[in-house]
Amino acid sequence: MKTVKVDLRKEIDNSYEILIGSDFIKGILADFDPNATFYVIDKNVFNLYPFLRELKNKYIFETSEKSKNINSVAEILNFLKNSNCLRDSKLVAVGGGIIGDVAGFAASIFMRGIDYYQVPTTLLSMVDSSVGGKTGVNLGDTKNLVGSFYQPKAVYIDMKFLNTLSFEEYKNGLAEVVKYAVMFDESFYNMLIENYAEVEQRGNILQDIILKCCQIKADVVKEDEKEKGRRMLLNFGHTFGHAIEVDSEHKIKHGFAVATGMYLETLFGQFMKQVDSDVTDKIRIILERYGFELNYKYLDEEKFIGAIAMDKKARQSGVVLALTQKVGSGMLLKGVELNFIREFFVSLRS
Ligand code: GLY
Repeated sequence: MKTVKVDLRKEIDNSYEILIGSDFIKGILADFDPNATFYVIDKNVFNLYPFLRELKNKYIFETSEKSKNINSVAEILNFLKNSNCLRDSKLVAVGGGIIGDVAGFAASIFMRGIDYYQVPTTLLSMVDSSVGGKTGVNLGDTKNLVGSFYQPKAVYIDMKFLNTLSFEEYKNGLAEVVKYAVMFDESFYNMLIENYAEVEQRGNILQDIILKCCQIKADVVKEDEKEKGRRMLLNFGHTFGHAIEVDSEHKIKHGFAVATGMYLETLFGQFMKQVDSDVTDKIRIILERYGFELNYKYLDEEKFIGAIAMDKKARQSGVVLALTQKVGSGMLLKGVELNFIREFFVSLRS
């Protein structure tokens, strides 16, 4: 037998920069060639920011969790084809997490991959989904089942967009901020507790918070781009959180579901004798401080447990849960059997 190795180790440099500032995005986009740049823009954002109307090739997308599907990807691919997007063109996604995930996925498969840029406009997408190259859509009820790891060429975080974000959307993003603190950085946790009022009011501290989250995420992704290990820590709260989203038919938004998920996963860790009650208390304290609901009673047990089983983090060997045994140092609990999860949720109801 003869072997030929396709050695790709030095061929691809996926590095990119995240720029964080205020009121700079218009200037960045003005430098992009209008004939070779294609925009996928969230409808609400488009209606709120008149400068976006001046952009040439644009597809305006009305987002909801239900529209995060393969049909929307097909629509974007058709838009790119019909407006003569070429292999060396750019796609720019302007909007929240759904826009970034759907448009990023379309960019990753159009002509086998074109360059794309993220312009996140919600706190959630600024601190989490725009960074790290996870793109994709839901398949039926299963979140993010279809997708790719495809890094953007740059992420432009313009804080100006936060001025028009509803309180609910803002809070939706704060849940992910709390996640970083609890999993990776105890001093960040303390800072969020102490400066609660300024954070709530979207004060100057916000830029430092976004920077901190992006630094943590960049470090994690650098170490584990394809989520083989450490990156799974970023899924804290998401396994139960996704089940809450699905069971509530998306009436509970991602961040709120993740917040409840973080508490319940920690409580489950305690149930499994992996987490001490003082850690559970600390997680409860920060989530309560930020006004998140901690408890959830599923509507449909089979749907709820089924969503956990189908979640992409469930492997043949069982569910992998990200937990923290000490604030600031997350860990993975592997091979969790669904029976224990079922038993835990039954115990919560009694
Ligand atoms: N949102 C989790 C990750 O990007 O890995």
